[in-house]
Amino acid sequence: MERALPKHIAIIMDGNGRWAKKRLLPKKIGHKAGADALKKLLKKVEETEIEHITVYAFSTENWKREKEEIDDLMKLLKDYIQQYIKENEKSNIKIDTIGDLTVLDEDLQRDLAHLKEISSKKTGLSLHIALNYGGRDEIIRAVKNIVKDVNNNNLLIENIDENMFSSYLDTREYKDPELIVRTSGELRISNFLIWQAAYSEFYFSDKLWPDFTFEDLEQAINSYQKRERRFGGRLDS
Ligand code: IPE
Ligand code: IPE
Ligand code: MG
Repeated sequence: MERALPKHIAIIMDGNGRWAKKRLLPKKIGHKAGADALKKLLKKVEETEIEHITVYAFSTENWKREKEEIDDLMKLLKDYIQQYIKENEKSNIKIDTIGDLTVLDEDLQRDLAHLKEISSKKTGLSLHIALNYGGRDEIIRAVKNIVKDVNNNNLLIENIDENMFSSYLDTREYKDPELIVRTSGELRISNFLIWQAAYSEFYFSDKLWPDFTFEDLEQAINSYQKRERRFGGRLDS
């Protein structure tokens, strides 16, 4: 029997730069095409039983890029959020973020807070945008908060276990992704959800992110549904 749909899919949306380069267009246009591809995809995902989508939008390592590209990405994100806020009555998608927002510019932080407020009233698909997100950074922030709670006598060292640790991560409110998809043919995790991916299934697509469609996601899901997930155990015992 085929397994059920994954409830949580995480996506490394990679390949915007190469998509633009192939067309001799500026990178900015590639990122815009990437954002449009996400919007289109989410419309279809909303019609399914999938409950959570986490997308990698900007990593803690992406600050290494040129200022111009970073500015373009932040502007695109602002536009995306402002459009969602403006048209929010049309959508039942719940949006929040993972990652450290404290270093982002104040306007953007304000918009994100507003976005979360609107989203708290929604009941549909949850979209988690990974923004200035790095798995290592998330773990370090969790460790710092754990140490604080131990020092303040709010937490006993004996009570630190995997569940407790997970409750200090940005993803504390929902389960780990069953499936992680990466586009553009790169075969690596690039610091995405490194704790949460412990037992996720991976699917790699050669398509560049702006070309990735719902049919491609269905292929990833089909592949996932055919796999045996053993979690270290045996299926025959
Ligand atoms: C992914 O596309 C988007 C971000 C990292 C923000 P890239 O910009 O990494 O695209 P490539 O890898 O250069 O093609
Ligand atoms: C991962 O893609 C980050 C995002 C998609 C936001 P990168 O393009 O930054 O990753 P590397 O540098 O190829 O590992
Ligand atoms: Mg890339």
